[in-house]
Amino acid sequence: MSRSHDRPARAIPTSLSLSPQVAAYLTTLNGLAEAGGWAGLFGREAPLELEIGFGWDTFLLEQAKTRTSTDFVGIEHDRQRVLALARKAVAVGVNNLRLVWGDALYHLPRMFQPASLHRVYIRFPDPWPKKRHHKHRLLGPEFLRSLFWHIADGGELVAATDDAEYRDFIHDSLVTVVGLHNTTAPRRWLDSAPDLPMSKFETLFRTQGKNVYFFRYARGTGFAPAHAADAAAERSRIPRRVSEMPHVVFSTALELDTLSREFKPFRWREDEVLFKVNELWLASRATGVLLECVIVHDGHDECFYVELANKHDGAVMRVSPIKEAERTELIFRCLAGLARRLLSSFPDLRVSRHNLGAWAPVSVDEQHRPEDFWTERHHGSGHSSVE
Ligand SMILES: C[S@@+](CC[C@H](N)C(=O)[O-])C[C@H]1O[C@@H](n2cnc3c(N)ncnc32)[C@H](O)[C@@H]1O
Repeated sequence: MSRSHDRPARAIPTSLSLSPQVAAYLTTLNGLAEAGGWAGLFGREAPLELEIGFGWDTFLLEQAKTRTSTDFVGIEHDRQRVLALARKAVAVGVNNLRLVWGDALYHLPRMFQPASLHRVYIRFPDPWPKKRHHKHRLLGPEFLRSLFWHIADGGELVAATDDAEYRDFIHDSLVTVVGLHNTTAPRRWLDSAPDLPMSKFETLFRTQGKNVYFFRYARGTGFAPAHAADAAAERSRIPRRVSEMPHVVFSTALELDTLSREFKPFRWREDEVLFKVNELWLASRATGVLLECVIVHDGHDECFYVELANKHDGAVMRVSPIKEAERTELIFRCLAGLARRLLSSFPDLRVSRHNLGAWAPVSVDEQHRPEDFWTERHHGSGHSSVE
């Protein structure tokens, strides 16, 4: 879900490139698919543990350092926090840790096989105290049920909160998940997890004299076969193919300064899908801009970035690699909408090629743009002409 305070920091554009050492700790959906899954990525079959929302905490790194026969993955919404931990991992040099920048709601079903996680830690997720914001809470029945499928037989979920109202909500949600059982019964929750180091937030809350509440739930063995069909259906949604992302190449340069000066957030709707362009950042030497785009569809917000950069005699618009985006029809439609907007704002702009296929901007056709715009020689070829 998109939440204003969870947005990546505005400092992104000055340096879009990461050192190869830091990048080696970051995993994307495509990277994972290319490696053939976590075992391929880590180069071994080992128990897998996941932390969701690690924030500024170094728990995962400490675990990776000391428990070398287990592989650790962290998913975190905030890019700066992901990079901070990746940099620390470079300094330590562990090889059993990978980090994912993104929303766990989106990445969990796409990145993890059913029954593959031996432990999942979710400590102090945002409590969203206002009633109208409760729908944003991570630890609700829907997410927990989907998480259940990814926990291995006998695997554990560790969740914690400091908020008494959220605690009750988590408890009421957990008891609806058939197949998960409370290992601390008859106690509904515990006030500490003595076997785990305290996270940054746990330390903070304890310093403030607040109570904290831990849930320890495990998945019973032998549950999976009865629900194999559900698991297979869930798995079928995981993208298997890695192929070209949408892009448009312009034969004329873009006036990036003008674009940046005159930018205002905008949105458009196509049937049931809402496309939003929220922010624009100009790169330090005005060689490119980055647009923050959000596609709202079916109750889910997918945030990704589009780069517009001048190259040689022309310009390129493409999905930015700074954040993973799944190659879906909606991404193609979003780029087509952006191209449409650019073409109507800059009448001299010409498209030399694209791979938008059926989603190519219709306004170009109406204006009798050069024929090669419609030539689909690059569509589906797997060849990228962007670089
Ligand atoms: C309150 S902090 C807790 C950090 C850490 N677990 C600790 O205990 O110190 C919550 C973290 O969860 C992250 N987060 C919230 N929702 C998320 C989601 N859907 N996917 C991934 N990370 C999320 C936030 O960016 C934030 O860093």
